[in-house]
Amino acid sequence: MSDIQQQYENYKAQGLQLNMQRGQPSDQDFDLSLPMLNIIDSEDVITPSGIDIRNYPGGVTGLPEAREMFCKQIGVAPSEIIIGNNSSLELMGSILSWALLKGVKGSASGWVTQSPKLIVTIPGYDRHFKLAAALGFELVPVAITEEGPNIDAVEELAANDPSVKGIYFVPTYSNPTGDTISEGVAKRLVSMATAAPDFTIFADDAYAVHHLVDNPAPAPNLLALAKEAGNADRVILFGSTSKITFASGGISFAGMSEANLAHWSKVLGLQTIGPNKVEQLRHVRFLEKYPGGMEGLMRDHAKILKPKFDAVEQVLSEELGGTGLATWTQPKGGYFVSFDTTRPVADRVVALAKEAGVALTPAGATFPGGVDPDNKNIRLSPSRPPAQEVEQAMRVVACCVKLASAEFDAAKPQAVSD
Ligand SMILES: Cc1ncc(COP(=O)(O)O)c(C=O)c1O
Repeated sequence: MSDIQQQYENYKAQGLQLNMQRGQPSDQDFDLSLPMLNIIDSEDVITPSGIDIRNYPGGVTGLPEAREMFCKQIGVAPSEIIIGNNSSLELMGSILSWALLKGVKGSASGWVTQSPKLIVTIPGYDRHFKLAAALGFELVPVAITEEGPNIDAVEELAANDPSVKGIYFVPTYSNPTGDTISEGVAKRLVSMATAAPDFTIFADDAYAVHHLVDNPAPAPNLLALAKEAGNADRVILFGSTSKITFASGGISFAGMSEANLAHWSKVLGLQTIGPNKVEQLRHVRFLEKYPGGMEGLMRDHAKILKPKFDAVEQVLSEELGGTGLATWTQPKGGYFVSFDTTRPVADRVVALAKEAGVALTPAGATFPGGVDPDNKNIRLSPSRPPAQEVEQAMRVVACCVKLASAEFDAAKPQAVSD
């Protein structure tokens, strides 16, 4: 038995149960927001703006106090944000569904009859792919680069095919690579020629404030740039507090130009009289009292998360650095590390890790249809387990990469010598 096989058997014998599968906050993260549960009471049901949080009136766009607070998160004005319920994915699903049925603002008709395509970035977020594909969009993948979507490819697709109706991606600290769109790419995206007059940028800004470094460089403001380019209605931004307060009990929002907001609040107002204002007030009260506000809370999350990302980096560079077996990202924010094996063995690594008690995101999940054509990418999610477990899990993963790569090399047909 080889040393690496022996090491793997030793890990297996430990009966580990470690989970690096999904990007969930840890209980320590949730604990930061526990005071939110007691922060409003029966004395506090009328907001400073005079809205009774128990009753319907208040509008579909959300409490003025919440709009004022959360607009900053996605870089829009208070008049440019709609507050939703606990899931930004739900908002995205609603807007994409309505776009299919009726189009977006300014569309001549619904997209469903136009064989609609959406550009998505790879590797990317499995729920984007599943949602858009299940609705009937054909997904057109382009690579994500360190500057955001491969803009040459995006420009070419958008300019030449009127059925390409938009792009759906994560502009800041992308899931899973951690890449952030550059100013140059953002400018090209909002100003490029599009064969579809109603081409829309669906920018899921889920990690806009989730920095792992001090003094992060500000990300480009897509809506401001779109306005400058004369395409104010091209951009719809999404965000939520799922990785800020409670993943299941937060609030979501969508940001867009005022004219676009007038359109979408009318549409969304057909399916709800208004979002949950109790939750909004709870969030406003909590965050206005939190030391340092939203930024203070995000700094406290970073203190919990950073050691976990450091553990990933440390173990991977110790175990795999210089081996030529893998490459991985070193994100400055967000929730994930994107890991690539050099050989096409991602599925084997995930299977070996599972056998050794380490659950990883399924290989292929970062690609449309769950199929990575190169079988190389694995999304690592260090946020949920404690740092010590992240370290243990990464040692196992590194061992599995070495073993799977050795198996692959051993199975390769040997060059015939004459
Ligand atoms: C890029 C991205 N968008 C959206 C979500 C989910 O957001 P929400 O809980 O607001 O639906 C996630 C969760 O992992 C995510 O990574």
